[in-house]
Amino acid sequence: MKEEGVVRKYTLFDDQEMDNTIRPETIEEYIGQTDVKENIKIFVSAAKMRNEPLDHVLLYGPPGLGKTTLAFIIAHEMGTNIKTASGPSIEKSGDLAAILSSLEPGDVLFIDEIHRMPRYIEEILYPAMEDFSLDIVVGGEGNSRNIRIDLPPFTLVGATTRAGDLSSPLRDRFGIVSKLQYYSVSELESIIKRTARVLQVPIEEDAAIELAKRSRGTPRIANRLFKRVRDFALVKNDGVINNEITQEALERLKVDYLGLDNTDHELLLAIINKFNGGPVGIEAIAASIGEEVSTIEDVCEPYLLQIGLIKRTSRGRVATDKAYDLLGISRKK
Ligand code: ADE
Repeated sequence: MKEEGVVRKYTLFDDQEMDNTIRPETIEEYIGQTDVKENIKIFVSAAKMRNEPLDHVLLYGPPGLGKTTLAFIIAHEMGTNIKTASGPSIEKSGDLAAILSSLEPGDVLFIDEIHRMPRYIEEILYPAMEDFSLDIVVGGEGNSRNIRIDLPPFTLVGATTRAGDLSSPLRDRFGIVSKLQYYSVSELESIIKRTARVLQVPIEEDAAIELAKRSRGTPRIANRLFKRVRDFALVKNDGVINNEITQEALERLKVDYLGLDNTDHELLLAIINKFNGGPVGIEAIAASIGEEVSTIEDVCEPYLLQIGLIKRTSRGRVATDKAYDLLGISRKK
C-alpha cells in the first residue's frame, strides 16, 4: 500500500542519507542549467574520445545551485572516482600535497569553497594543474631541497560562491569556467516532483508549483522546504502534500510568497527604517541585524538583487520601490 511505503521511507532515511538519495547521478537526470550542462556534455565526450582527463573546471554561483552535484556528475560521466576537499579544511601545504599524491589517473579532485584556500597553498596547485607535478620541500633547516614529484593526470573541479576572490593565476588555470544561474519556477517544480518521486511521497501539482515559487531559484532550498512540508503532511494529512498543507507549512516556516525568510525581511526593514532606504554600507546592515557580512553577501543579497528588491550603488545598498511595496511601507519624503 502506498501509505505504508511512505511511512517506511520516513523511518529509513535521515536527512543526510536523503540528500544522497535525491542527488541526480547522471547528467541526463540533472534538471536546468541547460547551457552549462550541454557544454559539459561536449567537453566530457571530447575528453573521452581523446582518452584524456577533462580539463580543469571552475563552477561558480550562489550557494545551493548544484555545484557539488555537478562535480559528482562529471566524475560519473567520465567514469572516474572523485575525491573531495574544501578550501577551509586545507590548512597546511602538507594537507594539499597529501590529497594530490593520493590521486589515481583520471580522478576528479573536487575542492569546494576554493576561494577560501590560503594563497600560499594555492601556489602548490599551479604546477599540479599545469604539468601534473608537485613541488615539495624536504629536509630540515640548512639542509632543505626542492623535489618534484609526478602526479597522475587528473581533473580539478573547483566550486566557489565568489569567483572574484580567486587569484587570477588560479582562475586562469581552469580551462572550463561555468557560472550557475538561479533556476526557473518550472525547473524547480520538476526538481521537487523528482524528489517526491524518488522518496515516494505523493505531491499534488499546485503544491509543487507553490513550493517552487517560494524556493528562491535554489534547488537546495526547494528540497529543504519539501522535507519540512512533508513533515506537516505526514502528521496532518496522511502524508499527502497538497496546496493547503503546503501553504500552512510555509506560513509557519515564515517563508513569504517570494520565498523570503525572516533574515531577508530584517535586512530590507533595516535598510528602509534604520537607514532611510539607503544607500548604506554592507557592514552597517550586517551589524544592525546581527548577521555575518559574508552571509548577507553570498546568501541573501544575490537573490534580493535578482528579484529587484535592492540595488547596489557605489555608495552602498538601496531599497527599491518594489521593496517598499512588498513591506507595505511608504517612502518618507
Ligand atoms: N537536486 C538538486 N539539484 C538538482 C538538479 N539540478 N536537478 C535534479 N535534481 C536536483
